[in-house]
Amino acid sequence: MLALGGSPPAGTLSFSNTITKQAFTTELNGFFSAENSSRCPSSIRASAVPLVKEAASGVNFIRPHLRNLAPYTPIEPFEILSARLGRAPQDIVKLDANENPYGPPPEVMEALGNMQFPNIYPDPESRRLRAALAKDSGLGAEHILVGCGADELIDLIMRCTLEQNDTVLDCPPTFTMYAFDTAVNGANLVKVPRNKDFSLDVPAILMAIEKHKPKLIFLTSPNNPDGSLIKEDELLEILKQDVLVVLDEAYIEFASEPSRMTWVKEHENLIVLRTFSKRAGLAGLRVGYGAFPLGIIDYLWRAKQPYNVSVAAEVAACAALDNTAYLEDVKVKLVNERDRLYGLLLDVPFLTPYPSHSNFILCSVTDASKSAKQLKADLAKEGVMVRHYDNQELRNYIRISVGKPQHTDAFFNALAKVA
Ligand SMILES: Cc1ncc(COP(=O)(O)O)c(C=O)c1O
Repeated sequence: MLALGGSPPAGTLSFSNTITKQAFTTELNGFFSAENSSRCPSSIRASAVPLVKEAASGVNFIRPHLRNLAPYTPIEPFEILSARLGRAPQDIVKLDANENPYGPPPEVMEALGNMQFPNIYPDPESRRLRAALAKDSGLGAEHILVGCGADELIDLIMRCTLEQNDTVLDCPPTFTMYAFDTAVNGANLVKVPRNKDFSLDVPAILMAIEKHKPKLIFLTSPNNPDGSLIKEDELLEILKQDVLVVLDEAYIEFASEPSRMTWVKEHENLIVLRTFSKRAGLAGLRVGYGAFPLGIIDYLWRAKQPYNVSVAAEVAACAALDNTAYLEDVKVKLVNERDRLYGLLLDVPFLTPYPSHSNFILCSVTDASKSAKQLKADLAKEGVMVRHYDNQELRNYIRISVGKPQHTDAFFNALAKVA
């Protein structure tokens, strides 16, 4: 621990008496490590030294539980990626973020062009969109709340339910935002790993509920990254427990099963999340929504940012829902392409694909001469982006988003070159 007291000479680092110099240095080293350097804004990377000094004096203002937080790893924006790879955006085959390559129905661009009042704050209750969603889902609008992506709703749910030292159950491998937001909200994360085939380990979940008394459990169906579905009897068993179940259905449109949104009428401990990012090709406009029991939704209304859904986002989402024939057509195209991609992957000797109910396919890489990380890097050099994971449990896997038929062809052409 550094000797403290008195003001440090101008220009030197100051440390509070709650943080050792070593711990502090470790944090900064972690933040600026090679792995993280791609995550932090380039303005910070370019001027790392002066900013480190400033951060040293400011860190005392940061809530203690956030000081060790690892930044979330976002996908690189298209323009940045294009500059890094030295390829025009149209020459990049982007199969790394489960985006919808067809984009939204044409009416969306028209509606955005005709947007009437961008100078006026949006409707804080997103009434037009909630009415359209009620029609689309068969669930009353009073159960529905819209957010800046499903991501915002994950955080909002936590902000409304978690107190310091409350516990969240997570079933990895799964969408990493649950763990990230749990850390941001200062709660404890208890992991109940999935079985080898990525199905839920329900007996272990029930034991963890008994032991840790979690406030929340996140269940994802289809699950990201493998695309497996949760079985109905397993969900019902978990719903019987004294825990708030957040069922994330971001990819449900690509599955053969219907959404369970309407279940929130019967289950006071169920929240269902959905999004326009995948089905409607609106990932860039950030629109997600959730179905909530009436006993819960009122409090989310009180806590949410009043203008969380922009005028453009609401206009676009409403226009997308007006053309359900287009949405259905795109879904069928993507599901057909997923099945074709799966069949082709089965023939690649060093890849083992997992059956998926979503718009992506997870593959384990079984070629001892090439790691999954290397394969991803080699494909990127050919202009084909797939997802690789740094965490231990998924180190030997890549995830390939389903694109148009020409994207699948480009993937296999690149694979033939690099394998
Ligand atoms: C399982 C899952 N839930 C939620 C999201 C986030 O959705 P949104 O784009 O609406 O924030 C994603 C995004 O990839 C996801 O994979």
